[in-house]
Amino acid sequence: MKVLVIGGAGYIGSHVVKEMMKAGHEVTVFDNLSSGLRCNLFPKNDFIYGNILIERDLDQAFARGFDAFVHLAAFKAAGESMVEPEKYSINNITGTLNIMNAAVKHNCKKMIFSSSAAVFGSPEYLPIDEDHPKNPENYYGFTKLEIERFMNWYDQLRGMRFAALRYFNAAGYDPEGEIRGLEQNPANLLPRVMEVAAGMKSGMKVFGTDYDTRDGTCIRDYVHVTDLARAHVMALDYITKNDKSLTVNLGTEKGTTVKEIIDAARKITGKEIPSEDVERRPGDPACLYATSKRAKELLGWEPKYSDVDTLVKTTWEVYR
Ligand SMILES: NC(=O)c1ccc[n+]([C@@H]2O[C@H](COP(=O)([O-])OP(=O)(O)OC[C@H]3O[C@@H](n4cnc5c(N)ncnc54)[C@H](O)[C@@H]3O)[C@@H](O)[C@H]2O)c1
Repeated sequence: MKVLVIGGAGYIGSHVVKEMMKAGHEVTVFDNLSSGLRCNLFPKNDFIYGNILIERDLDQAFARGFDAFVHLAAFKAAGESMVEPEKYSINNITGTLNIMNAAVKHNCKKMIFSSSAAVFGSPEYLPIDEDHPKNPENYYGFTKLEIERFMNWYDQLRGMRFAALRYFNAAGYDPEGEIRGLEQNPANLLPRVMEVAAGMKSGMKVFGTDYDTRDGTCIRDYVHVTDLARAHVMALDYITKNDKSLTVNLGTEKGTTVKEIIDAARKITGKEIPSEDVERRPGDPACLYATSKRAKELLGWEPKYSDVDTLVKTTWEVYR
């Protein structure tokens, strides 16, 4: 299929492009390089330098004729979204509506969307399944949930079949070492640990060591970015074969503690990685992890690279 990957020069997008190409799809990347990197582009792909806030850019891109598109272009800093909500309204919501309208106009009616665990807010039970109540606790999560609702309406009214993929914590890098562009402004734990290991920062803080978890630190669900990328290919197959939309969580069903990540990083990098135990951060739940039973049943998706050692090793290969 001819697939347009919007945000394909970014961290997750570049991995999606690689898996789409491996599956035999013909990929074009659309990106304004605001946080994406030229070095993440594959020479084999067409690249359109464009902005999802400029309707003409999207119109011209979709006019080339695509069977499907993946939409990853967004701002993603939950904390920032609480102080600058307008930025998130414009790029995430207006940008997405621009994309959906251009796609419908040019009859491109298969959409794979990067949603997020942030649509759920604090867990009411674990593991989090797709039916868990949705009470986003930051504006970023709200934008993702609203877009899921828009997609449901466009499905009904315009026959736009979509896959909403709710990523938990994306981590790791291409196990084949081909994609090496560093994620810009990462907010997750692993890149922070790597920055210390690589000497870019002198130390790090562990927020809260008195949680009711196996070692007192928070538990999160880290999913290897290549596993996430594989799910996009499977989701495209699913919506194509079944002519039916899909919303799934992508997690590993087993969380990892902050200390387990730091210990694995010390072992694998051989670096000291100085860390300081400090107070909890307000609003950080003790545990957050997902069941991916539905993704397994419907897509046959199972994580292959999301064990702690592979996550750390593939990230260290890029940071070292
Ligand atoms: N990284 C995670 O842990 C995580 C978790 C859940 C969901 N997500 C979602 O996955 C998607 C990709 O995240 P990522 O981590 O790869 O981030 P990223 O910042 O590396 O990628 C986003 C890409 O979109 C492009 N972009 C942004 N605004 C644009 C615009 N106006 N026009 C054209 N291109 C634009 C950027 O240049 C970049 O290449 C985002 O939608 C994010 O919300 C990420």
